[in-house]
Amino acid sequence: MIKLAGIDVGNDSVKVALDGSNEPIIVPNVVAPGYDRHILQEEDSPLKALDVVIQSPKLSKRNQRYFVGLLAVENQDNTELEETDNKALSDQSLVVALTALAYAGVKAESASSSTFSGSDEVEYIIGTGLPVRTYAKFNRTFEERLVGEHEVTFLSTPQLRNRRVKVIIRRAIVSIEGAAALYHISTYDSLQIRDEEVYYGCIGVCEIGALTTDFPVVKRMSIDNQFSTGEQMGIATYLDPIMRDIEDLYGYRFPSRAKLVQRIRQRQFTIQRIGEGQADIKPIVDQYFSRAAVRIVEMIKKRWNKYPDIQCFYVIGGGAAALKPYLLEAAGSIRLRFVEDSELQNMYGYLKLAKSKSSQPSAI
Ligand SMILES: Nc1ncnc2c1ncn2[C@@H]1O[C@H](COP(=O)(O)OP(=O)(O)OP(=O)(O)O)[C@@H](O)[C@H]1O
Ligand SMILES: [Mg+2]
Repeated sequence: MIKLAGIDVGNDSVKVALDGSNEPIIVPNVVAPGYDRHILQEEDSPLKALDVVIQSPKLSKRNQRYFVGLLAVENQDNTELEETDNKALSDQSLVVALTALAYAGVKAESASSSTFSGSDEVEYIIGTGLPVRTYAKFNRTFEERLVGEHEVTFLSTPQLRNRRVKVIIRRAIVSIEGAAALYHISTYDSLQIRDEEVYYGCIGVCEIGALTTDFPVVKRMSIDNQFSTGEQMGIATYLDPIMRDIEDLYGYRFPSRAKLVQRIRQRQFTIQRIGEGQADIKPIVDQYFSRAAVRIVEMIKKRWNKYPDIQCFYVIGGGAAALKPYLLEAAGSIRLRFVEDSELQNMYGYLKLAKSKSSQPSAI
C-alpha cells in the first residue's frame, strides 16, 4: 500500500508525518561517518541510534555508513549544514530524509505489534518543499532526487538491527516553505476550509528556519511571485556566533548547534566549566536573539510597507518559537501572529498538499 507523507527537509531537522499517524518523527539534520561502535547499553529508542548504510542512485557515494540524527549530534566528526549548502542538492539532507522515511515506514507498519516486524518495503507519495529563493530553479531537481528506489539498512539501531528497508518514492510534490504552512493553518485534516480569512486573504508569512528565512506572500492560497522573497539567514546564523562567544569567554565548546539548541529549549543556561565552577550563558543568548529579532521585524515592516494589502503576518518555523519573546518586544505596536508547534507547520502543510494533489493526475 502506498503511504502518504509530508516531509520537511530542514537544515536543522528533518520532520516527517505520515497520513493517519499524529506523531511526527523528527531527526536532527546531522550526520557523522559510521563505524562499529561499542555498545555498553542499548539505547531505548531507534531514533537515538540511527546507524545506517544507504544505497541510492541519487547519492554521490554508494554504500556509505552513517550515524544519523541524535547519534551524530555528540560525535566529534559530525557535520551540520552551512549557509552555502543547497537543500535540493545536498547529499546529507537526502541521507537524513531517506533514513527518516525508512524508519517512519517500518514504525507505521508495526504500530499494531510491539516489534518492528513489518514489511521491508515502503512505498510513498510525499509532499515536501524548498525555500522561496531555491524553489524556481531547483524544484524539478529536488523532485528527481527524491523519486525512485533507495535502500536503507539499519545496523546497530536498537529494534531494527540489520533490517534492510527499501524506500520507494513514487511521487514527490514540491511546494514552498512557509506557504505550505499557511495551507495547513487554514484547513482541516479533511482539507475543508477552516479559516476563510486566511484561506481567501492576502497573508504575509515570515518563516524562520535554521539557515533561511522565507517571506512568501500568499493571496487566496496562491504564491505572489512579485512580493515573495527569502533571506539567507536563520537561527543558525546567530547560534554559531553564540557558540563562538561562549568558547572565547568560558572555554566551553558545544559539539554542535543542535546541542546548544537543546539547552536553549530546556532553558538550561548554566554551563559547567572545567574546574572553574559554572557560567551563565543567557546574557549571550539574549544579546544575539534580540539582535536577530530586531532584524527580522525590520524585514517584516519593510515588506508590509511595500505591500500594504497584506492583512496579517504569521511568524512561524522553529525560529518563531525561539525568538517569540524577543520578536514581541521588537515589534512594538505591530501585531504579529504566532501558532503552536510552529516548526511543524510546513510538514503538516506538505502532507495536506500531497493528499490534495495525489488525488489529481500526476501532470503537475
Ligand atoms: N523552541 C525552540 N527554542 C529554541 N530554538 C528552537 C526552538 N525550536 C526550534 N529551534 C531552532 O530554530 C531553528 C529553526 O528550526 P526549524 O525546525 O524551523 O529549522 P529547519 O526547518 O530545520 O531549517 P530550514 O528552514 O533553514 O531548513 C533551528 O536552529 C532550531 O534548532
Ligand atoms: Mg524550515
